[in-house]
Amino acid sequence: MTNWMRRKDIEPGNLASHHRLNRTLTWWHLIALGVGAIVGTGIYTLIGVGANLAGPGVLLSFVAAGAICACAALCYAEVATMIPASGSAYTYSYVVLGEILAWVVGWCLILEYSLVVSAVAVGWSGYAVGFLNSFGFELPLAMTAGPHAGGILNIPAIFIIACVAGLLILGTRESATVNAVLVVVKIVALLVFIAVAVPHFYMSNFEPFMPYGFAKHEVDGVQRGVMAAAAIIFFAYYGFDAISTAAEEAKNPERDLPIGIVGSMIACTILYICVAAAAVGSTTFTAFANSPEPLAMIMRGLGQGTAAAAVGAAAIIALPTVILAFLYGQSRIFFVMARDGLLPAGLATVNAKTGTPIRITALTGVIVAILAGLIPLDEIAALANAGTLAAFIAVAVCVLVMRRRDPARPRVFRTPAVWLIAPAAILGCLYLLWSLPSQTQVFFLIWNAIGLVGYIARSIFMKGTAPAV
Ligand code: ALA
Repeated sequence: MTNWMRRKDIEPGNLASHHRLNRTLTWWHLIALGVGAIVGTGIYTLIGVGANLAGPGVLLSFVAAGAICACAALCYAEVATMIPASGSAYTYSYVVLGEILAWVVGWCLILEYSLVVSAVAVGWSGYAVGFLNSFGFELPLAMTAGPHAGGILNIPAIFIIACVAGLLILGTRESATVNAVLVVVKIVALLVFIAVAVPHFYMSNFEPFMPYGFAKHEVDGVQRGVMAAAAIIFFAYYGFDAISTAAEEAKNPERDLPIGIVGSMIACTILYICVAAAAVGSTTFTAFANSPEPLAMIMRGLGQGTAAAAVGAAAIIALPTVILAFLYGQSRIFFVMARDGLLPAGLATVNAKTGTPIRITALTGVIVAILAGLIPLDEIAALANAGTLAAFIAVAVCVLVMRRRDPARPRVFRTPAVWLIAPAAILGCLYLLWSLPSQTQVFFLIWNAIGLVGYIARSIFMKGTAPAV
């Protein structure tokens, strides 16, 4: 019997009622959830880190990361519609590749989702602190940055995670609707940025285009190059996978998931390339590289203080949509792994009143808040990317395995030219993994080693307790 056959439990109709999520989301909610998750700290803040690593060539970094992510998104759309269940790449890997690999992927997703929440909270904090500063409210460094930057604890980052976790605990539908309104705000803010920057566009700002070369290599003690930047900028593109974690709560997942995934991905790619061109074309890259609020800084530099404050305000009220989407996704992945017996079952209980897994949402919120309070943004983002890249590789492998194993199974969405696109996604993600800082690669290996030890320990201590398959 194949894993696919054994995993009848993933069909929501077969779940015990206290383990079943309410179907309340339409395609409109899913696109909003997708764009809400995709557009965030990547374009608002990491564009500065990318410029620091690649110079004006950061534009190419956006193109490369976007192309790789688009290939992965196309694979995601096929698998997500074949297996419309919560849990994203973890669930797909469970069905297609078996429990051990699914555990590894789930473990990587925990890393991705937790660290994205932390990273975006730190990015939010950068804009919030900058905004308050511009009105004369200076918060002491000790409470606005972690120890790496001379502070003690990034309290604004912790504050925003607490607010969003509370919203999620109140219920999915309300959260998704609030999210949709805020998505519009952050897109409009990026369009305002482009409109303000374009009149100051000079081609000379693009020269030299790749001061640090293309492939990752060390320059002045830092690993730089267009692809080193792409490995960080990759952060800006994912989030569409958060849509698939909502599959069990979608009203019509077969039709709506591909619309949500592919649609939101294409829109964001176009928008990012325009924003990056406007940023680099209007301002020497060294002026905004590594700023905690690069877009606002560029606008102030162009003499547009009011517009800078408006974009800063938009970031402050809208970046939490990303935190919302990933905290939501994270709690669902924990939920599904617990339901499968890979994490303690008590975590998987859905609250009867709100229809949300309260306990796991709260626990996740506390962990990511601690990380956000202490660790620097670029390091968090790089590690989140490592987890995501591993999960994307697993999904692309799943598509190919299922095409071979079960070619006749009806597919609502078929990845076009799958034998080109899926291998391109796998190789592209491997190249980005290689392009990450060496220190991140080491942390990533340690994280996976811990995960495998956990898996083995669970197998020994829980021998005879079969997972819910
Ligand atoms: N793509 C999301 C962001 O940029 C994770 O914040």
